[in-house]
Amino acid sequence: MTHFEQTTLAERCASLPLQRTDSQQGRLVQAEQLGSTAFRQDYGVKYAYASGAMYQGIASRQLVVAMAQAGMMSFFGSGGLSLRVLEEAILGIQSDLSGESFGMNMLADYDFPEKEMQRIELFLTHGIRFIEAAAYIAMTPALVRYRLSGVHRGEDQRIMIPNTLMAKVSRPEVAEIFACPAPPELVAQLCQQGVITQQEAELAPWVPMAQDICVESDSAGHTDQGNAYVLFPAISRLCRDISARQRYPKPIRIGAAGGIGTPEAVMAAFMLGADFIVTGSVNQCSVEAATSDEVKDLLQSINIQDTDYAPAGDMFEQGAKVQVLRRGVFFPSRANKLYQLYQQYASLEEIPQVVKKQLEDKYFKRPISDVWKEVRQYYQANRPQMLMKIEEHPKRKMAAIFRWYFAYSSRLALAGDQENKVDYQVHCGPALGAFNQWVKGSVYESWRARHVNEIGEMLMQEAASMLSRQIGLITSHSLSS
Ligand SMILES: Cc1cc2nc3c(=O)[nH]c(=O)nc-3n(C[C@H](O)[C@H](O)[C@H](O)COP(=O)(O)O)c2cc1C
Repeated sequence: MTHFEQTTLAERCASLPLQRTDSQQGRLVQAEQLGSTAFRQDYGVKYAYASGAMYQGIASRQLVVAMAQAGMMSFFGSGGLSLRVLEEAILGIQSDLSGESFGMNMLADYDFPEKEMQRIELFLTHGIRFIEAAAYIAMTPALVRYRLSGVHRGEDQRIMIPNTLMAKVSRPEVAEIFACPAPPELVAQLCQQGVITQQEAELAPWVPMAQDICVESDSAGHTDQGNAYVLFPAISRLCRDISARQRYPKPIRIGAAGGIGTPEAVMAAFMLGADFIVTGSVNQCSVEAATSDEVKDLLQSINIQDTDYAPAGDMFEQGAKVQVLRRGVFFPSRANKLYQLYQQYASLEEIPQVVKKQLEDKYFKRPISDVWKEVRQYYQANRPQMLMKIEEHPKRKMAAIFRWYFAYSSRLALAGDQENKVDYQVHCGPALGAFNQWVKGSVYESWRARHVNEIGEMLMQEAASMLSRQIGLITSHSLSS
């Protein structure tokens, strides 16, 4: 047994450089009191805290199990995984647990709504009661089906909603879509198809699509680069108004995500009025995250200025952005260069030969014709209708080839490919840099000592401690003046 395993969390917290972790007794505020009681009850967890999904199973079975066993909420990283892998993950997690809560992630797939529906069917079949939905800009039949499935009136006539949906949003108009009941035309369509029952359809107007709306400010991965001080009050007010107007029996809860990596940030989020918080970047640099050791080695010492914005591979043509690791890699500058070429030229043929040669030698490490062969094979096997559209439009073909680099760079990072480290695509926000600064000089400087549940526990406990001191200071100040 290592020294680390022999020490308790409290002892390790005491090694934090800030030395701020005090005894919980006598605190004005306890970590278990921060945020919404209804959130803790509905999710069956001890803190109003959740670790968000990380695609390709980076938010892994081990991560979810560690969080659940510590009485904390987390969402498995379903994005980019097949139905078979998802089912294996669900069964694995369920067999490791004894009924503790966990959830799965849903990402919008407007090109293939049937795939979204298959995922929801899988989740319903396996009794998944919690879903975190992200990247949506419109309501979809799959989400409506999930939310309304099993809705009924209890013996006391209260509306019972078995499935809880948390929507991560960064724009008011999307928050509104989730704060409102399901669109009547979608409800009617699903009812007609026999996908939901008449009773479920009749109760739909009293059911907000999301019970929890998480306001996501500047974060790892897909981001609108929002500012929490601006976004949170605006979206929170909007959702409160909708809750009152619709007379929901249970008001919508509003959470905060993006930039949370220190106790100060946790405290600020709850002071803004957050009912719960969600973290992301800090959890990728942990023992339980299913990414390579090489990525974690790079991440564990970054500072707050070591991230950058790059085009999002899955929304390349729309110009969407992701926040990624910058220090030690060329990915952001290379990805931005690809986007600039895409904007400048109408086809691959127009790009000067010398630039194409650079792409082949430095970026792709293979001829563009080989990349195209791979891309073609992928579309032929998975999305044949799309292949036709791509082949008809030279600019779309160029985008498809460039998008290959985004999948390739993610694979390199996940595999920890030693030779191509500079091309790693690692989604990450500055919250991790802030966390790294906080734990500098303690055992937590090494990712090998970082466990997701302990990260959450430390953040919540330390925030409660800080808040208690702040209240104490304010009170003593006002008494003495
Ligand atoms: C590596 C990584 C991958 C992510 N993948 C997803 C994803 O697949 N689905 C999703 O909803 N959010 C994803 N996120 C976002 C997180 O769930 C979370 O909302 C966000 O990271 C919070 O902001 P923060 O990074 O500033 O803490 C990802 C975050 C990271 C760090």
